[in-house]
Amino acid sequence: MHKATAEASANIAFVKYWGNRDPRLNVPYNNSISMNLAATRTRTTVAFDAAYTADSLVIDGQPRAGAALERVSRHLDRVRALAGTELRARVVSESNFPMDAGIASSAAGFAALTLAAVAALGLELGERELSRLARLGSGSAARSVPTGYVELRTDGTDAGSFAYTLYPPEHWDLRDIIVVVSREPKPLPSSRGHAAAETSPYFPARLSELPERLKTVRHALRTRDIQTLGEAIEADAISLHIVAMSSRPPIFYWKPATLQLILAVQKWRAAGIPVYFTLDAGPTVHLICEAEHQEAVLQRLNEIDGVLEVLVSGPGEGARLSETHLF
Ligand code: DP6
Repeated sequence: MHKATAEASANIAFVKYWGNRDPRLNVPYNNSISMNLAATRTRTTVAFDAAYTADSLVIDGQPRAGAALERVSRHLDRVRALAGTELRARVVSESNFPMDAGIASSAAGFAALTLAAVAALGLELGERELSRLARLGSGSAARSVPTGYVELRTDGTDAGSFAYTLYPPEHWDLRDIIVVVSREPKPLPSSRGHAAAETSPYFPARLSELPERLKTVRHALRTRDIQTLGEAIEADAISLHIVAMSSRPPIFYWKPATLQLILAVQKWRAAGIPVYFTLDAGPTVHLICEAEHQEAVLQRLNEIDGVLEVLVSGPGEGARLSETHLF
């Protein structure tokens, strides 16, 4: 039996990935920048063995078949092709955060799966190659491979689309205060959102803004400038949602509490708390601030109706091997 276990965190994007130049290979239209989330961890054990007649998957104690297993199997096929083996695998995965909270669980999942599968088959891949491979499973998973603050760069090709560390977690003690306002399943998977992006008349406008915004965010991270970072990440999230809302068919990810939080954040800032919002493809609001303002934000959150759960995370590590096997 060839077995290995890996851990990885989810990440929150400051400049988002939205739209694929090549949907088959998840080659994004634009670079994206994110922070790994230390408080979110997925641990995955992968074993390849001649005794297995098919791939199997257990997530958080639940055996999974159908689309989830197929997506994992397709990803294992990529690793099997690299290793030149046909062995089937057993995959067991556990996360310490809820799957329905608007935290990119597939980013943590595919980063951990990639590293565990590669290690189990004894392949020696560098970080760039691991990130590229993880991207084929889930685009944002490429960013959960390197540590800390990360940029996923793309030159429009498969080989040239991978993530690397901009700064280690110690560079800046930012917080993502994750405010869950709905537990309903997503209206549609991200792959459909990426595909719909091209139908929005505002997508070219979004893409044309990105080179400048990427520069601004890199600079704000380098100089630890929360106001510049915050204004850029809000503009980026708004632009993603404008594209989604103006796609054919239009996609509305927001819930009433999402807008309430956006308005509250503006009020809190006016009252002197430097906190900014970002949103992924869902209603969950991610509040970004420096560690020293975490308590003030958490207190203000008590005034908001419709908050179901709050999770807080600082910057975290990339994907790493673990000796804590799940079977
Ligand atoms: C809005 O294609 O990585 O979170 O369905 O989880 O694989 P999965 O999503 P993915 O798209 C992520 C889109 C985003 C923005 C981002 O994280 O950059």
